Amino acid sequence: MNRLIVVSNRVNPPSGEGDESVGGLAMALAAALREYSGLWFGWSGKTTPEFTGQLNIEKVGGVTAATVDLEETDLDEYYNGYANKTLWPLFHYRNDLAAFDRSYGEGYRRVNCRFADTLAPLIEPDDLIWIHDYHLIPLGRELRKLGVKNRIGFFLHIPWPAHQVFINLPRHRQLVEAMFDYDLVGFQTAEHQQAFEEYVLSEAGGSQPEPGVLEAFGRRVEVGAFPIGIDAEDFARLLRNSRARRMRDLMTACTVFRHLIVGVDRLDYSKGLEERFLGFERFLTENPDMRREVLMLQIAPVSRESVEAYQQIRERLDSLSGRINGAFADVDWAPIRYVNKNYRRDELAGIYGAARVGLVTPLRDGMNLVAKEFVAAQNPEDPGVLVLSRFAGAARQMPDALLVNPNSAEEISDALKRALAMDKAERIRRWSALFETVQREDVTAWRDAFVQALAGQKAQAPALAS
Ligand code: G6P
Repeated sequence: MNRLIVVSNRVNPPSGEGDESVGGLAMALAAALREYSGLWFGWSGKTTPEFTGQLNIEKVGGVTAATVDLEETDLDEYYNGYANKTLWPLFHYRNDLAAFDRSYGEGYRRVNCRFADTLAPLIEPDDLIWIHDYHLIPLGRELRKLGVKNRIGFFLHIPWPAHQVFINLPRHRQLVEAMFDYDLVGFQTAEHQQAFEEYVLSEAGGSQPEPGVLEAFGRRVEVGAFPIGIDAEDFARLLRNSRARRMRDLMTACTVFRHLIVGVDRLDYSKGLEERFLGFERFLTENPDMRREVLMLQIAPVSRESVEAYQQIRERLDSLSGRINGAFADVDWAPIRYVNKNYRRDELAGIYGAARVGLVTPLRDGMNLVAKEFVAAQNPEDPGVLVLSRFAGAARQMPDALLVNPNSAEEISDALKRALAMDKAERIRRWSALFETVQREDVTAWRDAFVQALAGQKAQAPALAS
């Protein structure tokens, strides 16, 4: 079996069994690396005044992690700059927040070159190389320049935007051309894949000789939709652990006679948190009789704090949650509990399990795994209801959720009302369909479909390509 080399900006394998501090995706990639005995390469999370290219290699929880420190300027221009001030907002349809600064583009190219230079000597001839996410789009191209002939795949975790949105990016053609140095490019949904294809056909003079294959820039690449899932089996284990149960009991105890509505998101403007609070405010205004029957818990750990747009959204949410609580709270009840702390996966599982409604309303999202974890955490005999944005990649696989337009306070308010009034039979029917999909289309199916397709084996068509 080929070795697998996973490359991503962040490298965070769990330290071992029972380490629930890292996210579900990290757990899954670590499991894949143990199976394929490969290594995980990326940024160490540290900076030095000057780039040294020195590799840090450590074995963490059975996974070999090879990381490199970046220079302080790299952090500004590559991570905070091109990745998070240019690509992230644009790919999430926030052209108004996107900054186009030549130094960011240069930093992005420089770091991708540095990663390629450091990684190339570690590559053996039969290794499969799997590169992740928007930070590293040109890495394949840089590796090819160094003579790497291996099969290289790229998976984009965030949306690929519609053609007319994407062309706002200066030098957009260069970025797309770099994607033709991969053997396989994977997207979360067929919609993202189609947006990419449309660009290639209409803007880059490319052609599509057969479905799932594109030719342009004198090269050929396979493309596909590989919707990421959660590790449903591991999640079931997590639910049974004592921390998860303690948290569920705690949340149940502090919401006696009330319904818990829960949202968990990184504090990011793409997550629709302001719109969500406004939707909840509207619900409180329109349903005075239900006010004291609900409690909304929004967990939103802070993220990318050096970027101004993140500081601004944080301020707006502080003020909005304060305003709503000020207007509606009573001496013994406040409608919103807004928490910026980070929680472990097992604690979150316990919180989801105690909730009647999961409110997952990003304005745009590649997939959204919170929606899937919420479903996996429900009690089959009395499950909660998922209210989900139609603009999350997950919506395609989860038609039995209550799908809403996350920009509309009215739709969020109506969906909350409907979810809270929904009888048990309907809740069970909807939940069973959702849970079946979450279990079947899990992270192992995602990983195996991608790796098999990358290895050039006749992969079963990714189950959810349509
Ligand atoms: C999104 C991206 C990931 C990223 C994560 C956390 O899910 O797709 O690539 O790692 O956000 O963001 P951060 O900037 O903290 O790595």
